[in-house]
Amino acid sequence: MDRLKNKVVLITGAGRGIGKACAIEAAKEGADIIISDIGRNMDSVPYDLARSSQLDGTEEMCRELGVNVFKKHADVTKADEISALVQEAIHRFGRIDVLINNAGIGAPAGKPAHEYSSDEWDILLNVNLSGPWRMIRAVAPIMIRQKKGSIINIASTAGLLGYKHFAGYVASKHGLVGLTKSAALDYAMDNVRVNAICPGPVYDDEFVDGSMTKVVADSLGIQLGEQEEIDLQSVAMNTVVSPTDVAEAAVWLASDESKRVTGTNITVDAGYSAK
Ligand SMILES: NC(=O)c1ccc[n+]([C@@H]2O[C@H](COP(=O)([O-])OP(=O)(O)OC[C@H]3O[C@@H](n4cnc5c(N)ncnc54)[C@H](O)[C@@H]3O)[C@@H](O)[C@H]2O)c1
Repeated sequence: MDRLKNKVVLITGAGRGIGKACAIEAAKEGADIIISDIGRNMDSVPYDLARSSQLDGTEEMCRELGVNVFKKHADVTKADEISALVQEAIHRFGRIDVLINNAGIGAPAGKPAHEYSSDEWDILLNVNLSGPWRMIRAVAPIMIRQKKGSIINIASTAGLLGYKHFAGYVASKHGLVGLTKSAALDYAMDNVRVNAICPGPVYDDEFVDGSMTKVVADSLGIQLGEQEEIDLQSVAMNTVVSPTDVAEAAVWLASDESKRVTGTNITVDAGYSAK
């Protein structure tokens, strides 16, 4: 219950889904929590991003667990908003021990690579790949000064494998896995670790307002139930992965239990990518 005591954990995209689960699991382990999300929709993203009230909900659940929480909206495509987030977080807590780069978008998708518009292609890379890089650019100097830190990039099995009609998402997540490995080498001598988690299909757990499976189903023009059935059939363990399963791996990477682990990917996919 105190594996992250005295650590400050910053999580992007924490308004719902996996990011919210990460915030709750980190709070259960006693961390001070910095939560951020965009709080508005983006052009070229064909579904609603987290509302401001959803980030409030994450804050409330973490506070109920008795930890300190700082909350601020920031768009990971905007360097000035990231800078304000990190500066205010440092003013509040004095350090950042863990960065969980979770903010991401699953669509535009659902068509062959040549049918993406430039805006659709660019937004996927801008949020899913350049977003984590911008966060690392803002937070790594702090961790280097501390001579300690853990950066956790929430990639995907789409960072390891191809998915038909998801070329932009797949390219962005492969890029994120590459960024993870190189940044791990850049900061290894500073005792700053960088790892990726590659979840397979994660079900839309109502507990954290999960909705990504619906985004995937809508992109492919099928019903949510059909997508859930496809997901279930495609994993080796024949069981769905929850946002909390992913968050538990993030807690381990955030904790000192993984102090000799850097530059790696951990799949949390019930065997999806082993097949
Ligand atoms: N759910 C899955 O099946 C699955 C599988 C593998 C990987 N992932 C990855 O996990 C991460 C979380 O996904 P999720 O399933 O919880 O989806 P989600 O849509 O519920 O959560 C993503 C969060 O990121 C936020 N966000 C989006 N664009 C942003 C921006 N520009 N700036 C700041 N915040 C932004 C959203 O508002 C949202 O709260 C993503 O990176 C996703 O690619 C999800």
